[in-house]
Amino acid sequence: MQHQKNLFDLPQDITYLNCAYMSPQLKSVTEIGTRSVLRKARPNEILPEHFFDQRTVLKQRFASLIDALDYRNTAIIPSVSYGIANAAKNTPLKKGDEIILVDEQFPSNFYVWQDVAKDHGAVIKTITPPAEFNQRGQQWNEAILSAITSKTAVVAMANVHWADGTLYDLKAIREKTKAVHALLVIDGTQSIGALPFSIQEVDVDALVCGGYKWMLGPYAIGMAYYGEAYHQGTPIEHNWMNRHNSEDFNNLTQYEDRYQVKAARFSVGESSNFVLTPMLIDAIDQLLKWTPENIQNYTRQISKKAITRLQELGCYIENETHRSNHLFGIYLPSHINIDKVKTKLKQENIIVSYRGNAIRVSPHLYNTEDDFNRFASLFA
Ligand SMILES: Cc1ncc(COP(=O)(O)O)c(C=O)c1O
Repeated sequence: MQHQKNLFDLPQDITYLNCAYMSPQLKSVTEIGTRSVLRKARPNEILPEHFFDQRTVLKQRFASLIDALDYRNTAIIPSVSYGIANAAKNTPLKKGDEIILVDEQFPSNFYVWQDVAKDHGAVIKTITPPAEFNQRGQQWNEAILSAITSKTAVVAMANVHWADGTLYDLKAIREKTKAVHALLVIDGTQSIGALPFSIQEVDVDALVCGGYKWMLGPYAIGMAYYGEAYHQGTPIEHNWMNRHNSEDFNNLTQYEDRYQVKAARFSVGESSNFVLTPMLIDAIDQLLKWTPENIQNYTRQISKKAITRLQELGCYIENETHRSNHLFGIYLPSHINIDKVKTKLKQENIIVSYRGNAIRVSPHLYNTEDDFNRFASLFA
């Protein structure tokens, strides 16, 4: 696969290795967004059916991206915190139940669990990584698996750690949670779009994804999947569109107790979002053409030599089986001064993130092997 720089509008003088922070926008997405903003100048052309049609297309595209058979299991959300809150509110919990979280996971998948734990007298159990940088990913996975017991009510984590790209074995975690009748809630923000994922293979109970990173969408729109365990749930808000028969604009005040089917009840109010929805559809269309498999292969190819070079310098980078290629962390040995590296990266306009103790590098198809060679040369 060739790099796809020409489809983005990134400035020429920067090397952007920071998609995990925020993706750059595809030119086609910018174009659709601009057209969509202008659309409201003619409200007479926005018809009742338009409140529904693009929502359905977006759900269908997201379902394809995560290999889910039924798009009606998906919902449109404004943020990860919103999507996780719907799962947390509808996770059955009683006193003494355990909620398993992973160390230093993103706050939007932490605070709400703390809140429901307090309400129900449940206990949060946080699984930390081993202290040593040796087979760290494998050991961390083992620790998570052995923490899941008959006391576990829910495991809420990600499939890729947002700070250093550690990959978690969701297949094994799903099996274990099923064996003990626990739910599994996944924050897919740092993986869906760039890492293959199949609901048919790993049927998580909820998968919540922000749209502005690896789904290449605009800010403030994301997607979630909710399996059967949540289909009778009570949403955190009550938007009219999520109720049965909401398409009938003449009868909206014939109030309905019934919801639209499956996960529709969890979509945010005004999810027809006439600007953001078409933008995210276009972005996912492009991802479906490229495929997450190709994105993993491409980012593996362009980063391979640089990773070997950094490992030779004594940096710890998780081995390939336990990390993603589109997002990984570099832990420096004591003889490399992080502040010096930061200064050099800044001088060279190479943009990465610093998360925890790791330098987080997150490439995409607009990057090249040359970007990585220049990056690695600054560590010597
Ligand atoms: C793993 C992960 N989840 C969620 C988010 C964003 O959360 P929210 O949409 O609630 O702002 C981020 C942002 O960096 C993230 O890295």
